[in-house]
Amino acid sequence: MSEILATQDGGVLTLSFNRPEKMNALTRAMYADLSQGLNEAAGDFGIRAVVLTAEGDHFTAGNDIMDFMNNPPTSDDSEVAKFLSSLLNFPKPLLAAVKGNAVGVGTTMLLHCDVVIAGTTANFSMPFASLGLVPEAGSSFLFPQLVGYQRAARIFMTGESFDADSAIEMGLAAAKDVDPLAHVMKIAQHIAEQPPQAIINTKALLKAKNHDAVAAIMKAEFEIFAMALQSDEAMEAFMKFMSKKGK
Ligand code: COA
Repeated sequence: MSEILATQDGGVLTLSFNRPEKMNALTRAMYADLSQGLNEAAGDFGIRAVVLTAEGDHFTAGNDIMDFMNNPPTSDDSEVAKFLSSLLNFPKPLLAAVKGNAVGVGTTMLLHCDVVIAGTTANFSMPFASLGLVPEAGSSFLFPQLVGYQRAARIFMTGESFDADSAIEMGLAAAKDVDPLAHVMKIAQHIAEQPPQAIINTKALLKAKNHDAVAAIMKAEFEIFAMALQSDEAMEAFMKFMSKKGK
């Protein structure tokens, strides 16, 4: 069974991470399926909005650590690079329902969403530096722009996590709900009933100021990230994670 579940309800496509036994850690195959889902949705007139969500109790524990070790993404051709590009360029409303852990790219992908609803259990973190890595997905630009330099630097440099209330206060999430998926689906269906071209134009205008800057910073981040992935600091952090899990 695919580890990305795609279901359509009216004009709303839901893409759900489906690897709950590994806390929905994202593999290369999952990134490829996500890109494909987004790219097809972009070209399908019947799809008016996409919702990202997850099976189980957690959104995602971020990139699969084994994949980082065995198949480090080092080129623009990698599945993760293609996914990030699809995310940046997705022209229709993108919403997310987040419960439990949203680690690494699980949080940075939200910076590209138009509406995020946080579950009461949501816990966000971007521990890139703790793993010997650097921020990605344009987050080194988008996150300080959202929350201010000092707070962004503290969160990136300590790896500390934050909850749904903080995410709302920061502007990373729009609201908190015990059932974030039901909440976000209502908003997505409402958006799907609006005139579609007006919605696409509205999103393009909202994103216009940042688009080229984010594309450029993503490229720069990716180059440093690719080198960092093969560093001693990263290897040590990955080995520590693996040994903690008795792998
Ligand atoms: N890659 C691969 N497997 C992962 C994973 C990841 N990023 N995150 C969690 N898993 C797996 C665990 O190995 C475990 O599998 P197992 O039962 O076969 O051992 C399962 O998911 C559950 O995770 P576990 O670590 O037991 O849960 P926890 O509640 O003790 O801890 C976290 C939760 C998120 C703190 C911990 O899993 C973690 O630190 N994960 C790595 C997060 C990370 O660094 N992501 C990369 C960001 S760039």
